Amino acid sequence: MAASPQTIDDVAAGLRSVGYLPGESTALVSFLAAKLGKPILVEGPAGVGKTELARALSAYLDRRLVRLQCYEGLDEAKALYEWNYRKQLLRIQAEAEGAGWQEVQDDIFGEEFLLERPLMSAIASPEPVVLLIDEIDKTDQEFEAMLLELLSDFQISIPELGLFEARTRPIVLLTSNNTRELTEALKRRCLYLWLDYPQLEHELAIVKLHTPDLDDAVARKLVEVIAMVRELDLKKPPSIAESVDWARALLLLGADDIDSATFTQTLSIIVKHRTDLDVVTERVGMKLPVRATSAGQP
Ligand SMILES: Nc1ncnc2c1ncn2[C@@H]1O[C@H](COP(=O)(O)OP(=O)(O)OP(=O)(O)O)[C@@H](O)[C@H]1O
Ligand SMILES: [Mg+2]
Repeated sequence: MAASPQTIDDVAAGLRSVGYLPGESTALVSFLAAKLGKPILVEGPAGVGKTELARALSAYLDRRLVRLQCYEGLDEAKALYEWNYRKQLLRIQAEAEGAGWQEVQDDIFGEEFLLERPLMSAIASPEPVVLLIDEIDKTDQEFEAMLLELLSDFQISIPELGLFEARTRPIVLLTSNNTRELTEALKRRCLYLWLDYPQLEHELAIVKLHTPDLDDAVARKLVEVIAMVRELDLKKPPSIAESVDWARALLLLGADDIDSATFTQTLSIIVKHRTDLDVVTERVGMKLPVRATSAGQP
């Protein structure tokens, strides 16, 4: 049975139960989206859980996830629908010799000759789905305009066929990394969720969720160091994805502390630009304790 949240706390608990720890506004906006039937526009830096939120909502609400990955040059044929030319051709060949053009045309522009692409498949589905339109900022404004019709009316006009109306309403999430400003018209139709790097305790909980076996003290130190690194003026600050990767690596390496040697050894997991590496080594690496040699221990 698909879940239907009654309160914000229901949503928060539901997301947690599928391994996603939502911040306050994430639970609130997700709840409103489910209740009001409005799309959510999720913006924020890379790796803070935008895409993952769609996956978590789909798992929690027990709805299929339909995903449209956007890229430059994405067009309607790849996003909405295409005519299945091969099948149409076969049908034309199979038609009786004497069939008139009108009959053939009526025949080959029916729903069975459509190839559904993600947007259409999301509204044609008999069971409601979660529709993820990932990285919408990579497309152009014409594509956005086409999306507007879909997001406000939940219908698609197909010239040869007429209006195709939604069978079910999807929960829609659009994500953006902010590489370009989206149009006001699109924003107006969406609820807005800004996801930023999490607070320390929140990130600690996420890290622990992904690596429950990591020592508590190491996990805490990890998120503290990550927070320090984010303070620096880097090309690409480490995201939650990097914190989790780092935690997994430290666990594998059996690290019982993040001292200066461990930090240097594993630095490339959290910082991935040549110049950033230098800055971080100098500003953070130096501050970490140098491990006492075992000979020095009692
Ligand atoms: N709130 C959270 N609870 C649990 N895990 C999280 C959370 N936020 C992020 N993560 C982890 O961080 C990883 C990166 O998240 P995700 O891929 O969704 O980032 P993104 O914001 O879509 O990044 P990009 O802009 O690069 O696509 C996820 O695989 C997940 O493991
Ligand atoms: Mg993503």
